[in-house]
Amino acid sequence: MRRQYDGIREDVLAAIARVCDSQSFILGPEVEALEREIAALTGAAFAVGCASGTEALWLALVAAGVKPGDAVITTAFSFFASASAIVRAGATPVFVDVDPGTLNLDAKLVDRQLRTKRPENLRAILPVHLYGQCADMDAFDRIAQQFGVPIVEDAAQAIGAEWSGRGAGSLGVTAAFSFYPTKNLSAYGDSGIVTTTRPEVAEHMRRLRNHGSPRRYYHDEFGWNGRMDAIQAAVLRVKLPHIAEWNQRRERHAATYDQLFASAGLTSDQSSNVSSAPVRLLSRSPQSKHVFHQYVIRAERRDELRKFLAGRKIGSEIYYPLPLHLQPVFSYLGLKAGDLPVSEQAAREVLALPMFPELTEAELRWVVESIAEFYA
Ligand SMILES: Cc1ncc(COP(=O)(O)O)c(C=O)c1O
Repeated sequence: MRRQYDGIREDVLAAIARVCDSQSFILGPEVEALEREIAALTGAAFAVGCASGTEALWLALVAAGVKPGDAVITTAFSFFASASAIVRAGATPVFVDVDPGTLNLDAKLVDRQLRTKRPENLRAILPVHLYGQCADMDAFDRIAQQFGVPIVEDAAQAIGAEWSGRGAGSLGVTAAFSFYPTKNLSAYGDSGIVTTTRPEVAEHMRRLRNHGSPRRYYHDEFGWNGRMDAIQAAVLRVKLPHIAEWNQRRERHAATYDQLFASAGLTSDQSSNVSSAPVRLLSRSPQSKHVFHQYVIRAERRDELRKFLAGRKIGSEIYYPLPLHLQPVFSYLGLKAGDLPVSEQAAREVLALPMFPELTEAELRWVVESIAEFYA
């Protein structure tokens, strides 16, 4: 974050000053301009700025028709908000396991569940584009059509990602993005945005983020204060012209990591589940333009490796150490260890390595050399 700031400092401070001078702090022209720009970037036609990615998920779910008493299928392997937003909409999350290659919601398992044991009052399916790679949207499109269930995208980690040339955010009925400060496109505080291709759905989300109010002090339904700050929009608009290049650099770093791991003999076949190599890479869908929000490996003796790297001041993180179905707060769903084995194994093995546009090749080498030393 510091390296990025050094490159755009003057522009960011000028943008913040512009908002202070305008004395227009919530929604207003900065937010509207950002909404147009994000709509263009994603190809979704409409974007509605809001207070966070979590708020965006709630808006996206409610606007897709999720009501109290409904059920929503989602992945067990994601950030908590993917599931807590479903609960906040009054619905019940139905956790399904992930694909062992990509760790995205497994469309085959979702399909099987719909054929054999369709959840009562199923209102939506919420795939997460984990780590910046879209879930299998061909399969989810088919499922949506065949079973008449809308797809809501959790695109919090996937700004700029694509599936078969279509932008994340334009692939479902609604989609949620987060601009949390460590995201590929990030604000200087909390904020998020929802996108949709349908004008009436966009209007509904505009009302919902503002107390369900079509005009001031008149309320047709229960909404909330989920509005976006103008300062966040102004900062995001400084960064937006850079996002394509920043994402390209991430992609190049990922390719460099891949090569370095292969030439150090640390990895074997990327998608193979059985391997004698200590490090396994996740698989990449050919239809997917991956924006590498994270570069994640699956590592033997993961926790020891993480400590070893920390000793060399190499940052790493575990996204996510406990799958959602095993979180104490979801014990009421009655799931137990062993029920979603692919997510559970991933939680024991995944490790995210340093990934940001400003990384140098020497730093990438140092990370991989250090991992090689650990396993030597
Ligand atoms: C997959 C996913 N969904 C939802 C969120 C929630 O976004 P926020 O932190 O902006 O509320 C995040 C980010 O933290 C995320 O990674």
